[in-house]
Amino acid sequence: MATLTCRQLGKTYKGGQRAVDGIDLTLESGELMVVVGPSGCGKSTFLRLVAGLETISDGELEIGGTLANRLEPAQRGVAMVFQNYALYPHMSVFDNMAYALKLQKRPREEITRRVREAATLLGIEALLERRPRQLSGGQRQRVAMGRAIVREPRVFLFDEPLSNLDAALRVQMRLEIRRLQQRLGASMLYVTHDQVEAMTLADRLVVMRDGRIEQIGTPMSLFETPASCFVARFIGSPAMNLLPVSHSEGCARLPGGLILETDALEAETRADTAANAEAKAPARAATLGVRPEHLRLDPQGEFAVTLEMIERLGVDALAYCRLPGLDTPLTARLPLATLEAAALREGSEIRLGVDGPLHLFDAEERRLARRARLISAATSRIA
Ligand SMILES: Nc1ncnc2c1ncn2[C@@H]1O[C@H](COP(=O)(O)OP(=O)(O)O)[C@@H](O)[C@H]1O
Ligand SMILES: [Mg+2]
Repeated sequence: MATLTCRQLGKTYKGGQRAVDGIDLTLESGELMVVVGPSGCGKSTFLRLVAGLETISDGELEIGGTLANRLEPAQRGVAMVFQNYALYPHMSVFDNMAYALKLQKRPREEITRRVREAATLLGIEALLERRPRQLSGGQRQRVAMGRAIVREPRVFLFDEPLSNLDAALRVQMRLEIRRLQQRLGASMLYVTHDQVEAMTLADRLVVMRDGRIEQIGTPMSLFETPASCFVARFIGSPAMNLLPVSHSEGCARLPGGLILETDALEAETRADTAANAEAKAPARAATLGVRPEHLRLDPQGEFAVTLEMIERLGVDALAYCRLPGLDTPLTARLPLATLEAAALREGSEIRLGVDGPLHLFDAEERRLARRARLISAATSRIA
């Protein structure tokens, strides 16, 4: 059952700023959907449209099967958790959590029961008499979540709820939110700009760019088949290497002379092939993508590079390399033991092979339905 559906949802602020531009998505019941994207891409505006904190300019919002465009926030059955917690400083934790239920004029016993249940779920029973200023950041965030839980909403909305916490606490709270969501069977829209948080929490991920959806899918499908260079840069850490190539039919060349063979996949449009047959298509600018995890040290490897810098992460190391003729560095994630065994250091000349998929994007940075394969050694120089 769909909990929430958006059809061409849009928001233009007074002054003309188009912050959300035609969002189409469906949140299934019990699904945790993470919305991710750079600062300013419209994530908060999108959540505020769903919550009813901003008016919808165009399109439709349906919550639990009912058109919700004109419903008051309190009637939408959603509860929002904010980055800055937004707790009432002069109220106790209990009163903060009970506030919405008091407004609804629920019986006193029911309020007490629901607040206590939520407090137990979150492990904050001992804090109910305290004021927000007597709590740590993590505890305040739990109270903010508790306040959402007691309302038993159809949809939880989270706007960067962990951004104010330190790194260790962020990891812990991330796990707690996931556990809680599964226990409650809750439907959630969760906004973050942190791609690790996004990858680890999401059932499905929505990547936003300039108010629009750039791509939507499971975290692994976005990692494995990014629809554009934008998604490829955003999902995965460290980011995918993106190298400029010139692409003509069946073949892509790197500035240093390395050649790639590219097989058209079934999915590629016939029109494109026909056009190519008509006139020998000129080489076009394109982008070759390879993930740092998919490069390995290999004396027969196709990429002859200079090792410029090593960052030791513990088990692995990031090797920042320089390809001849290219300004963009090539990053490889290699087992530290391999680097040490080969006694490599900054300045070493090494060869890297590819151990995974290569991605190809067109001049507009959209994914090409072509499989790329390296065919010639880096030593071959083509004019
Ligand atoms: N109340 C507002 N009035 C006008 N423009 C706004 C308002 N709120 C946000 N914006 C603009 O809308 C765009 C999206 O903002 P926002 O939704 O806050 O993005 P995000 O949460 O992804 O950082 C930005 O360009 C921002 O400056
Ligand atoms: Mg925001």
